[in-house]
Amino acid sequence: MEQVRNIVILTGAGVSAESGIGTFRDAGGLWENHRVEDVATPEAFARDPDLVFRFYDTRREQVLQVEPNAAHHALARLQREWPARTGGSVMLVTQNVDDLHDRALGAADGAEVIHMHGEHLSAWCTACDGRTRWTASLIDSPPCPSCGAPALRPDIVWFGEMPYRMDEIFAALEDADLFVSIGTSGAVYPAAGFVRTAADMGAHTLELNLEPSQGTDWFDEARHGPATQTVPVWVEEMLKGKG
Ligand code: APR
Repeated sequence: MEQVRNIVILTGAGVSAESGIGTFRDAGGLWENHRVEDVATPEAFARDPDLVFRFYDTRREQVLQVEPNAAHHALARLQREWPARTGGSVMLVTQNVDDLHDRALGAADGAEVIHMHGEHLSAWCTACDGRTRWTASLIDSPPCPSCGAPALRPDIVWFGEMPYRMDEIFAALEDADLFVSIGTSGAVYPAAGFVRTAADMGAHTLELNLEPSQGTDWFDEARHGPATQTVPVWVEEMLKGKG
């Protein structure tokens, strides 16, 4: 591997699995009880808003009851320490809508978590376009704290909607020396295509997943096992090389 400065990390449901949040496509995963088209599309929300509100209200409550695990903490450490040691950057992009990366990171100068699929703990007002941190339920149509309209919806990117901050993410992929994909099945685009964009632009690519993902053949290197084991080992290796 060439000398690494700029790192882009993509995480998925597998990184939160050992915190107790079910993944989407594994046995026992989210969509077994609810068909995706019944809860995670704009059409579903228009057809049956109460079902969608109930579904996300339950998930939001669950997120508040779990804690970051060793993988979240290791990635937060890399975000905090890598730039000072190397002068390079770490962009952490997650498909997850929980706040476990954010809690592990805490307040850190210049470091953040990009939630490309939105956040459970955020409500989006479709009247004024404002976003508000939200931990209560949405089913009773509470007023938007900014404009007062009863027009809040989960701040979640549903199927058929555009993920957030794609321009920034693609710019970082073009600049990356190393792309690492952690705990994602590689089933959902555009995230599943990040590995090829990064590789085309010359980055080394690494997969850390419980098992080979759908896109595993596109990676230069893959390590398989639970994220709480593979991620801290990888972060330690990265930081040791730059100690
Ligand atoms: N450690 C590492 N990987 C794990 C672990 C673990 N402990 N447990 C499960 N995994 C792996 C699974 O093997 C699987 O490949 O995590 C992956 C999870 O895949 P998905 O359930 O498909 O989740 P994700 O890839 O994040 O889904 C992408 O799909 O439904 C949409 O918007 C939703 O953001 C989500 C997107």
